[in-house]
Amino acid sequence: SEQKPLSGKKVLMTSGPTYEKIDPVRFVGNYSTGKMGLALAEVCAEAGAQVVFITGPVHDLPKGKGIDIIRVESALEMYEACLSRKDDYDLGILCAAVADYRPVKMEDSKIKREEVGAMTLALEPNPDIAASLGQVKQSHQRLVGFALETGTTPEQVQAKMNRKGLDMIVLNSLEDKGAGFGTETNKVSIFSAKGGVEDFPLKSKREVAQDILASVLAHDLLG
Ligand code: PMT
Repeated sequence: SEQKPLSGKKVLMTSGPTYEKIDPVRFVGNYSTGKMGLALAEVCAEAGAQVVFITGPVHDLPKGKGIDIIRVESALEMYEACLSRKDDYDLGILCAAVADYRPVKMEDSKIKREEVGAMTLALEPNPDIAASLGQVKQSHQRLVGFALETGTTPEQVQAKMNRKGLDMIVLNSLEDKGAGFGTETNKVSIFSAKGGVEDFPLKSKREVAQDILASVLAHDLLG
């Protein structure tokens, strides 16, 4: 039978937002819907990969053979789920919009406005999942990250890639119409750690996922 490009490869993915609990009814979060990650998981699975899909709270999940779905809520849970699989993937794709901060304290009962009045929410940093995987990356493993920016230079993207130990970064900008959170489309530039950037036009998230996979294969990232 025909050999698919990702046959025998294990892909570890993160997708969606994380929710950082303030109290039983409130959280700190972001607008990620998981659509970009869903498209990537399906494209990788169709290309023959075994995909472990670690997702924050989202409405739609990827479908199809070869996709194991692990649902988490917070950045710490996503971190644990990823790090416990650090030895068990060939390609990591980090599409999640991970909250960089979490409330220092999760209140056990609902914070009542009448009792508290004005308030300040104390936050502490979450671990960086991409950088943590980058630090323990083995010679056969490759990592593709995303960057969501509002105004950035190619130098800053390269610096982020090096700092986190990534082999590739997919940049999407909130300044481009139809790109980023929630949209059916995305507009990306793909940066390679070996140098080089490729700019793509606005496309459906599925087509963007196909471009990302093609780029991974073109750069011979999986040997
Ligand atoms: O889900 P959709 O609605 O379809 O939207 C898609 C998307 C806009 C969320 C997606 O395309 C995207 O850009 N995801 C990454 C968003 C992001 O958090 O970027 P960042 O520049 O803050 O993070 C850089 C990289 O580090 C990312 O690969 C991120 O997953 C990773 N990271 C960041 C912080 C952290 N604590 N841990 C991480 O692993």
